[in-house]
Amino acid sequence: MTLLITGGAGYIGSHTVLEFLSTGQDVLVLDNLSNSSQESLARVAALTGRTPAFVQGDVRDRALLDQLFSRHAISSVVHFAGLKAVGESVRKPLQYYDNNVTGTLVLCQAMAAAGVYHLVFSSSATVYGDPADMPITESCPTGRPTNPYGQSKLMVEQVLQDLAAADPRWSIALLRYFNPVGAHASGRIGEDPHGIPNNLLPYISQVAVGRLPQVSVFGNDYPTPDGTGVRDYIHVVDLALGHLAALNYLQQHTGLQTWNLGTGTGYSVLDMIHAFEAACGHPIPYAVAPRRPGDIAACWADPGKAARDLGWRAQRNLAQMMADAWRWQSGNPDGYAGG
Ligand code: NAD
Ligand code: UFG
Repeated sequence: MTLLITGGAGYIGSHTVLEFLSTGQDVLVLDNLSNSSQESLARVAALTGRTPAFVQGDVRDRALLDQLFSRHAISSVVHFAGLKAVGESVRKPLQYYDNNVTGTLVLCQAMAAAGVYHLVFSSSATVYGDPADMPITESCPTGRPTNPYGQSKLMVEQVLQDLAAADPRWSIALLRYFNPVGAHASGRIGEDPHGIPNNLLPYISQVAVGRLPQVSVFGNDYPTPDGTGVRDYIHVVDLALGHLAALNYLQQHTGLQTWNLGTGTGYSVLDMIHAFEAACGHPIPYAVAPRRPGDIAACWADPGKAARDLGWRAQRNLAQMMADAWRWQSGNPDGYAGG
């Protein structure tokens, strides 16, 4: 049986494809390459000795999906495909709702028509909004996301909850990622954002290789130990392994389940800069800048439910996240474009 992975050429997707292939699972990737390169999958094939089937196409293309479900013996779907830049989503809300919400609706319609009911969905800690209590458990109420990207994730969660309630054949995992960072330990695949990075770790990495002059620390007056924002950074390989555990669970249970995928530990922006300096061996220039609109002070997970239900826990510590991010960035200073 084949696993369909939408968005499998992207950052989290490529690491997840690698881990599934390594277990012997057959994988079909559907990706429109709007934010990725097929080179990631070529490298996954070189690392695993197994080549995932690849179709360049859009998850909103129902005819294409019907064709894929009829040509391949697909048993389950891991759905990463979507747009993820928070700031861009404010400027281009229709693109975000269309890719993220319509894309998931079309996918679910095609799955139901093909009799495929196992779905793992990439959600985000952003659905919690600005939570009152830390750490965040899955039973914390969802908040009001401050941007169309976050809103699109919450809307999809609600659609999938209704779907699972309406039809007991569905088995659905909502995985709420905290902050994925790092790269595969080989240094051959990693995060390759187009343009100036929005997220902290790729920004620090590009400063470290000299592509950008300095890191702007967005605010040092938050109510946190050093005044800078605190997040739960999780190694992307640990995150990828969470998908294997979730899919395994879906094969034995129906209904919808929600799991936080985080480590349970928060680090500040300054912690991250200093940890990266230790990994790369030289100072990272930075300057304090105003707070970024929409940012919250602190956010970290209680990952206990995933540990109890799935037997999954993040294994890789901050030093490994940084060492792997640095190996990737220093070996591929121009990302996949460097060949
Ligand atoms: P990414 O941009 O690297 O990967 C997404 C992939 O989907 C890309 O390869 C892109 O080309 C593809 N894609 C986009 N729209 C598509 C469409 N309509 N049809 C087919 N392919 C399409 O991003 P990522 O960091 O790997 O994120 C994967 C998923 O995880 C996304 O849904 C994202 O919202 C979610 N997520 C990411 C983070 C994070 O910080 N990286 C945090 C929480 C949730
Ligand atoms: N930060 C800086 N300078 C930068 C970039 C970020 O100081 O150049 C700070 C932010 O203010 C924040 C922390 O670093 O305190 C992390 O910021 P990121 O942009 O890396 O991550 P966010 O927590 O803002 O958001 C990320 C994803 C969202 C996702 C969320 C939860 O971008 O899509 O994690 O999973 F919803």
